[in-house]
Amino acid sequence: MPATTDDKPPRRTGRDTHTDADVERDQQPATLDECRRCALWRNATQAVPGEGPRHASIVLVGEQPGDAEDLQGKPFVGPAGALLDKALEEAGLARNEVYVTNAVKHFKWTARGKRRMHKTPGQREIDACEYWLEQELHRSGARVIVALGATALKAVLDDAHARLQDALGKPIEHGERLVVATYHPSFALRAPDPATRQRVYAMIVDALRSAEKLARQRKRAGS
Ligand code: URA
Repeated sequence: MPATTDDKPPRRTGRDTHTDADVERDQQPATLDECRRCALWRNATQAVPGEGPRHASIVLVGEQPGDAEDLQGKPFVGPAGALLDKALEEAGLARNEVYVTNAVKHFKWTARGKRRMHKTPGQREIDACEYWLEQELHRSGARVIVALGATALKAVLDDAHARLQDALGKPIEHGERLVVATYHPSFALRAPDPATRQRVYAMIVDALRSAEKLARQRKRAGS
């Protein structure tokens, strides 16, 4: 559903054309479509909620929807999603057994010619969207969270200073949850040379395998 119901189409400049009047930082909206906690709704086609079983033992958290996700209203359906699906399969996990979502639910972009180029969300947007992410994590009851990239890590740890490099390969206890951090699939796609692409991809697969094992252990232990 479009993010606005005005007769006029929303301005799609990709520039920060909003004013503070568009934003209600303390708003507690009932639905994502109504969310005005930050200004990203203004240039997005729609909000993109998470997808997957309501109660999943593993939740994967990405950064924000990309161009394809913004248009389709589903997370990880573009090129990064294709790589993620391949990595999940290689790790022995089915996409439909994990819950997949993003730290930020609207596409942040900037125009380059006719193309909409991804723009990394800022801390203010991560903080605003924490409202939705926490609801998803709580509802799922998942004990194992995979943070795909630095933005996801900051969001799931609720720590603006969290660094991906410090967390790679070391599951982090965070309250009742275990956070497994790895690279974002787009990083594997964008890496300049095939050897780095392969190395990053292998690390994503390893992280997913580790998440699967930890979720199984936690289930067995009843924790
Ligand atoms: N990148 C993300 O972080 N999330 C998506 O849903 C797609 C691309």
